[in-house]
Amino acid sequence: MSYSGGWFVIWGGGGGKRPYRQPCYNPPTMVKLDLHYVEPRLVDLYDIENPRGADTDFYVQLAAELDARTILDLGCGTGLFTRELAMVDGRTVLGVDPASAMLAYARRQPGAEQVRWVEGTSKRLGTPQADLLIMTSHVAQVFLDDAKWDDTLRDIYKALRPGGTLAFESRNPVYEGWKRWNREDSFFRYESPHGLMETWVEVVGVGNGRVHFQGHNIFTATGEKLVVDSKLRFRTQAELTSSLQNAGFTIEHLYGNWDRSPFLPTSPEMIFVARRN
Ligand SMILES: C[S@@+](CC[C@H](N)C(=O)[O-])C[C@H]1O[C@@H](n2cnc3c(N)ncnc32)[C@H](O)[C@@H]1O
Repeated sequence: MSYSGGWFVIWGGGGGKRPYRQPCYNPPTMVKLDLHYVEPRLVDLYDIENPRGADTDFYVQLAAELDARTILDLGCGTGLFTRELAMVDGRTVLGVDPASAMLAYARRQPGAEQVRWVEGTSKRLGTPQADLLIMTSHVAQVFLDDAKWDDTLRDIYKALRPGGTLAFESRNPVYEGWKRWNREDSFFRYESPHGLMETWVEVVGVGNGRVHFQGHNIFTATGEKLVVDSKLRFRTQAELTSSLQNAGFTIEHLYGNWDRSPFLPTSPEMIFVARRN
């Protein structure tokens, strides 16, 4: 599960303190970021909560089929996908993310030296004439503002070569997956470098194409609880299609799941594979 938003609430370790709220800006890029991508202990938990899966296989296979030599991973985070893509000889792989703590984690992992890590947004992609740009684990949904999404697509267009491929996924709003974003369905207890964790998510509100929810994280050893307040944009198929077309892309495939089944109105995912005109 992926979160984004920018406000967080912290409860102290059982001391009965009142929660406080504060915005979470990443100083070098001034992008408002979710605490999950900023607080080093939560960053350490990210790969445990979001392990390698069928989505990784999908992107790895796509890169191989396209014989992509230059690959850009926008919103690369801890770099789980980025590092695997860079394991193929002869590839140049760039991982871009505005969250310095996520990149610091990525840089410490095995194989990190094969990737060029860049702190920033799509503005840092440049014009490398790349063969493939990916946005994995629902990065497309962190762009709450439609003007920012359109601007990001324009930057991606400039970064790809003519005929280059843009691939990403966004959750299908018709599927209403957030109906299972509750304590009962999402509760997860696991051992971590910070001791036994208990985590779950709860939806706070749904409206205007956005889902507002909170990620609860309890460090059971100390009783400390971090509540991360997040929002994601759920664009419709029509909205994503027109944004891609307006930015100069032709949609080649729209899949509904990681097994490449065709998109149906009720599919959980919208997995776009688009070609730069
Ligand atoms: C759900 S994580 C996905 C990380 C990684 N792609 C993965 O598959 O594990 C979302 C990532 O988007 C990044 N992000 C947030 N705002 C961004 C922006 N404006 N441009 C690019 N990335 C952004 C976050 O810092 C975070 O690392």
